[in-house]
Amino acid sequence: MSLSGNAPSPAAHRPIAGPPRPVRAMLVLGTRPEAIKLAPVARAMSASPLFQPLVVTTGQHREMLQQMLGMLGVGVRTDLAVMRERQRLSELTARLVDGLGTVLRTERPDLVVVQGDTTTALCGALAAFYERVPVAHVEAGLRTGVIDNPFPEELNRSLIGRVARWHFAPTRRASERLLAEGVAAAQVLTTGNTVVDNLLWVLAESSGTSAFRTDHRRVLLTLHRRENQGERMRAMGAALRELADRGDVEIVLPLHRSPAVREALLPELGDHPGVRVVDPLGYLDFAATLAACDLVLTDSGGIQEEAPSLGKPALVLRTTTERPEAVEAGAAELIGTEPAAILAAAGRLLDDPVRYERMAGAGNPFGDGRAAERIVARLAEDLGAPLPHAGGPAPGPAGPSGSYDAVV
Ligand code: UD1
Ligand code: UDP
Repeated sequence: MSLSGNAPSPAAHRPIAGPPRPVRAMLVLGTRPEAIKLAPVARAMSASPLFQPLVVTTGQHREMLQQMLGMLGVGVRTDLAVMRERQRLSELTARLVDGLGTVLRTERPDLVVVQGDTTTALCGALAAFYERVPVAHVEAGLRTGVIDNPFPEELNRSLIGRVARWHFAPTRRASERLLAEGVAAAQVLTTGNTVVDNLLWVLAESSGTSAFRTDHRRVLLTLHRRENQGERMRAMGAALRELADRGDVEIVLPLHRSPAVREALLPELGDHPGVRVVDPLGYLDFAATLAACDLVLTDSGGIQEEAPSLGKPALVLRTTTERPEAVEAGAAELIGTEPAAILAAAGRLLDDPVRYERMAGAGNPFGDGRAAERIVARLAEDLGAPLPHAGGPAPGPAGPSGSYDAVV
């Protein structure tokens, strides 16, 4: 029996024997973006009599995760509370695999759902593999092709791809990458990214408060990547201070709680009148702030996807991106991390309205807001419980008509 990426697990095809009972799907999440991107899946499962979603939080992030849990629409069953200040990847990994193994042996779910490329996602997949529970990977197939950039996420997502039974790829490119790596087509579904589902849902449900305070040009800035921490991030901060020196911009920086990020950025940006440093924003307020901004400067994965969804040009402050779709569509630019390049790119956009409008109008290549629907429908079908759906195009049964591919 194998649970490897290319061989479907027999357990994955097991019809539900005896009296029908909901599929017990364990959603493992530990960081802010995982909560945001799994929330639509949790909500879709909660709304279906066919699923019982069990949310297990690892607490890889503490405060930043807590801020997001309300969106899941389902309570947390277990929290492993693993976070330590300045946690090293090795100790974090050890605590996570061990803790998740214990939870899996207690709960015996029908499947484990992980999202993206964090250490929590990798350990969720690995612990499930050890307990012979099939794994569904949401946001599968993203690659830069550079094994240590971003670090450690590129390795994490590649390893999850070896373990997963279901690969829910956000874009056609991500699906094609998985097929090229040898994953069987029947195990891959192009769904769109669940981050779009969540953003649209939040904007429709309620309104938050923008963190901008002036009518200057509004720049939303976030930085946190491990590979940039230290001197490089400090130099990026200095460049952004120079951008604020223009005097006609207001930079809002919702500052990640990582001490390494704070040490790098606060000395440069903490006391500038053109920079508003705020604590991490709740999702409603972050969405409102994004909607109010003119320009995004970020090294975040999720924000690269959200910015084009709201027509906001994004400058990606990294040397690689696993989300080239936005760059190819013209909605984002990959700028790198050199101070001069950052300043030049921001200046070009702020001072050239034609260029700005072109980027702002480039469109969103990441989804149509129905990714979670497709994911849940495919899982229901494969686990022996087809989902009824009313009207509209079929959301996600196997075959090309159910994939996001077929609707873009
Ligand atoms: C992690 C993920 C990264 C993801 C990012 C989202 C890994 C290896 N990295 O990076 O892929 O893009 O989350 O933000 O999984 N901290 C707090 N409170 C919080 C959160 C973090 O104090 O609510 C501090 C802790 O000191 C912690 C440090 O931040 O040790 C770093 O957190 P960690 O999850 O290890 O890495 P991130 O850089 O946040
Ligand atoms: N986000 C938020 N509040 C903030 C900053 C970001 O809610 O103050 C959200 C943002 O909308 C996006 C996600 O957090 O969906 C991105 O998280 P992060 O940049 O930490 O991680 P990454 O996406 O790079 O893994």
